[in-house]
Amino acid sequence: MSAFITPFERISSKGGETTNRRRFLQKVLGLFSTLIGLGFLGTLIGYFRPKTELGGGNILRTGEGEPIPADRLQSEPSVIGIGINGEPTIVIRYGGELRAFSAVCTHLGCLVRWVPQRSEFFCPCHAGRFDANGINIAGPPPRPLPRYRVFVNKDGYLELEEPLA
Ligand code: FES
Repeated sequence: MSAFITPFERISSKGGETTNRRRFLQKVLGLFSTLIGLGFLGTLIGYFRPKTELGGGNILRTGEGEPIPADRLQSEPSVIGIGINGEPTIVIRYGGELRAFSAVCTHLGCLVRWVPQRSEFFCPCHAGRFDANGINIAGPPPRPLPRYRVFVNKDGYLELEEPLA
């Protein structure tokens, strides 16, 4: 008999049990399967849980999925987040009113930024410009930025509605 005892040999020698390596591995695999199954179940529950817990399904969110509070617009001139159908969306406070637009330039798809000093959206890729209504006013963009209704929901987060016609 070897002086070196593996964990499997130690298990099999206790109380004369006939537990062998195969049974031990079956138990370990069973435990892992259970843990994986519980993780999958948790994911499923999270997927189907109603989003109304945070006030609705069209809340503007960060790239990490965190809802964006409306009070960020008190310290920042604009916020960009992920909006309806995953659309990058920019929200500004203009003349005391919240306005939301797709942040995707209608020329070749770069992200626009809000320039409060000029009350314009600016696209850095080819110097496209849009006014505070999202209307293309200079450069190559062929169309206005799609606009969304936006409001502050009961939890204080920015929430969007379908695009305005
Ligand atoms: Fe915006 Fe070209 S992509 S101006």
